[in-house]
Amino acid sequence: MHLTEQLVAHWVHELRRKTIVKVLVVGSGGREHALAWKLLQSPRVQQVTCVPGNGGTASMKRCQNLALGVNDFEGIARFALVNGVSLVVVGPEVPLAAGITDFLMDQGVMVFGPTRAGAQIEASKAWAKELMLEARIPTARSAVFRDEQAAQAYVRSQGVPIVIKADGLAAGKGVTVATTLADASEAIAAVMGGQFGEAGNQIVIEDCLTGQEVSVLALTDGITIRPLLPAQDHKRIGDGDTGPNTGGMGAYAPAPIVTPELMERIQTEILEPAIAALRKRDIDYRGVLYAGLMITPAGDPQVIEFNCRFGDPETQAVLPLLDTPLEDLLLACAQQRLGDMPPIAWKPGAATCVVVAADGYPGSYQKGHPITGIDAAEAQGAVVFHAGTQLKQQALVTDGGRVLGVTAVGETFDSAIANAYAAVHSIHFDGMYYRQDIGYRVKTVQSDSS
Ligand code: AMP
Ligand code: GLY
Repeated sequence: MHLTEQLVAHWVHELRRKTIVKVLVVGSGGREHALAWKLLQSPRVQQVTCVPGNGGTASMKRCQNLALGVNDFEGIARFALVNGVSLVVVGPEVPLAAGITDFLMDQGVMVFGPTRAGAQIEASKAWAKELMLEARIPTARSAVFRDEQAAQAYVRSQGVPIVIKADGLAAGKGVTVATTLADASEAIAAVMGGQFGEAGNQIVIEDCLTGQEVSVLALTDGITIRPLLPAQDHKRIGDGDTGPNTGGMGAYAPAPIVTPELMERIQTEILEPAIAALRKRDIDYRGVLYAGLMITPAGDPQVIEFNCRFGDPETQAVLPLLDTPLEDLLLACAQQRLGDMPPIAWKPGAATCVVVAADGYPGSYQKGHPITGIDAAEAQGAVVFHAGTQLKQQALVTDGGRVLGVTAVGETFDSAIANAYAAVHSIHFDGMYYRQDIGYRVKTVQSDSS
């Protein structure tokens, strides 16, 4: 580059960095609290508005909640336009799949999050499978059915274990890993019998993969794609990965199973081909592409699923380690200039998030119990991200299944895990439940901190 061009580029970059930004975050979970918290660490982020937010986002300085639904696109657009919001960041998949990005962009609002067409990568597993096949992205062999008898016959011909998936969005409940033919048959009947509504119009049946699951959340502007630190979630409710699946009971980053060599393969064999395949379909995908991967015993990455958004609770473990200002990255994605950004910078060390839930979750649970001890937990250096909480007459009460995500960082995993559990022990509410073994894969000190 010519010297003057370099100076101009530097000047434009500096000017951009100094411009004040107002961000609107759509969603109400721990992920959205973490996004708002990270954004507010930048002095130039003047204000974050969360729609509808939770008790945690209501309590942060320079942050406010706006009582609108995540699917109230008109209300969100109106607020963004009237208040000069620079960027809308969409947390959950439902509004993305319903076209919030298309709607807001039509109104001239800048959005971080894919269009409805791009969100199909999560909203239709059959669509995502076709894209992976076309792009030669490694994934389990699968077949798609619209007819129940044909699906049942296929399963009988394949045997077990086998994985049955509702095609559409089912709030994380549409997947059954069947170990008996009876379970498989029951799962097919449930999906096609309408248990998940239209999400079950098609069914994807795929081979069962073994290995360790890893979440790679990558930021993309539709051309360039850059992974964040790899994370591992704990999906089952019980210690030792037992019991039913949940939205996620805890996470840590950076997952050591993803070596730099493996990340390079994930980049070239999965992330880049996915973006190229989306572009081939005329989809200009700007947001997070979340690759849910199985690392097979041979060490190969296979895609279990793609999501069109940040993971929850992975985000709560990844963002505390991010050193680059988050709004710089999100704006660069939305403005399609991620390729001009310097490499994403990270703090050293490790982070662990322990999810604290209401007893009974993922089944039925009570709400409205007062929560105490958050200040004490934070005084120990942890960050407590709220998920299902509400501020009621200045008192914090439980308001969901996953209530809090208690995150701590440390020089090592052992210290991050110990710090997170020490903070959890300061917190109390009636019927509080959490897994005792978050991070068991990366822990070396077995003298229990929990
Ligand atoms: P998904 O909603 O596609 O992420 O699936 C939920 C969970 O089901 C995953 O996190 C895995 O634990 C499991 N799962 C999905 N697909 C497979 C597969 N092909 N092999 C083994 N486990 C799977
Ligand atoms: N932690 C799993 C998810 O966000 O889908």
